[in-house]
Amino acid sequence: MTDASSPDNPASPPASRRSIRSFVIRAGRATVGQQRALEELWPKYGIEFSAQPLDLDQTFGRRAPRMLEIGFGAGEAMLAFAQAHPELDCIGVEVHKPGVGHLLLGAETAGLSNLRVICHDAVDVLQQQLAPGSLQLIHIFFPDPWHKKRHHKRRLIQPEFVEILARSLAIGGTLRLATDWEHYAMHMREVLDASPLFANEAAETGFVTRNEERPLTRFERRGQRLGHGVWDLSYRRLDPAAP
Ligand SMILES: C[S@@+](CC[C@H](N)C(=O)[O-])C[C@H]1O[C@@H](n2cnc3c(N)ncnc32)[C@H](O)[C@@H]1O
Repeated sequence: MTDASSPDNPASPPASRRSIRSFVIRAGRATVGQQRALEELWPKYGIEFSAQPLDLDQTFGRRAPRMLEIGFGAGEAMLAFAQAHPELDCIGVEVHKPGVGHLLLGAETAGLSNLRVICHDAVDVLQQQLAPGSLQLIHIFFPDPWHKKRHHKRRLIQPEFVEILARSLAIGGTLRLATDWEHYAMHMREVLDASPLFANEAAETGFVTRNEERPLTRFERRGQRLGHGVWDLSYRRLDPAAP
């Protein structure tokens, strides 16, 4: 993994132009195993960030439907999904290097060939590295809730970001989200329900039942211990030009 792809590298051109980011690079060192994975397994599973559109057929050596998980944390959901869906090519984007190392170890142990990882700001990846309509499915599970009102602008789900998501998602594709923070759940619903590019798959209640495929991540378990609820949302990408 080169430093040029790193989100904390001030030379990283597009990210440095944007002042509000949805993340802070967390302190916390990679374990010896994660560090080894970052060095040895990155050439196999890693994709360097580049502002050029990626040829995904070449990357995966086949043409298949593709899913993207944004902010996979330690990668539990990503790994389980890629294992359960060998017919899909799965791309995970995360800025936290120890988490990336953890997922690389899991991918190697599971012998996966349908998983790749990008260690960079997902906003840049979606805007610059992924071709329009190249994804069938996007997962965003437990994005940082940014609890304080003055930090709400850092939340990933905002009208502008919804348009960025829509650009990469094929018409008819699915966007799945989950959060354990009620205020953010309502905010997600408000922003996405207002978009002409998406239709809520649970139009009446607003929220879908928990996706059985989603394993309990460390983050979700912590929320459970704190007594938080969980809200799952699912949206279908619309073609606004369709009658
Ligand atoms: C609260 S954690 C949840 C992790 C995981 N999805 C889970 O359920 O355990 C949110 C993650 O999103 C990552 N993240 C936030 N903004 C991001 C961005 N713009 N691009 C890539 N990763 C991002 C953070 O580094 C963090 O690991």
